[in-house]
Amino acid sequence: MNDTIGTILKRRSIRAYQERQVDERALQEILLAGQFAPTAMGQQPWHFTVLQNPDLLEKLQIACKSLFLNSDNAALREVASREGYHVFYHASTLLIVSGDSKAITPLQDCVLAMENMLLAAASLGIGSCWVHSVVLLHDSNGEGDVFSNLGLEFPEGHIPYAAAVLGYSAMPWPEAGPRKSGTVSFVR
Ligand SMILES: Cc1cc2nc3c(=O)[nH]c(=O)nc-3n(C[C@H](O)[C@H](O)[C@H](O)COP(=O)(O)O)c2cc1C
Repeated sequence: MNDTIGTILKRRSIRAYQERQVDERALQEILLAGQFAPTAMGQQPWHFTVLQNPDLLEKLQIACKSLFLNSDNAALREVASREGYHVFYHASTLLIVSGDSKAITPLQDCVLAMENMLLAAASLGIGSCWVHSVVLLHDSNGEGDVFSNLGLEFPEGHIPYAAAVLGYSAMPWPEAGPRKSGTVSFVR
């Protein structure tokens, strides 16, 4: 197995982080990896927001947690009610990939960019976890008022399609769960 496939198999969602900030050079490499994802017709209709302001991160996580606590979905309410639950797991960096909603396939483009970044992070020994509540929060707000109220603006016509936290793991690196069987068919 080569290193790339090894990294793909090694990446796990990390749900406890050390306080120290992600190394700047590593962060720049991760962002570069995001920008080399494939996009429909090469449009690159994305923007990468790196949120590292502790005060803003906490305000955003409180808004996300409140969204979960008031959700119609019982599973989300249950998770958010757990003692000590922190939507961002106390990570010091949040990445948001927003995309031009008028592009051909903005969702796919932004999600692929995010996966590139999660893999790049894993290759550098940096943990990550997708945090979908940021996207749900935007959807629930229509025009995304909560973001602008926090001083978080996306480029004109952009909406957030993917968000993930990054940082150094404060937990043993998890093992992958078992893979579902019977999910591959060959037609030859
Ligand atoms: C679209 C999407 C949304 C997710 N949202 C969350 C989330 O809000 N919070 C969280 O802790 N994990 C979230 N995850 C991570 C998954 O729970 C995780 O990938 C899955 O359990 C498999 O574990 P692994 O990433 O360690 O392989 C999300 C993953 C995806 C792909």
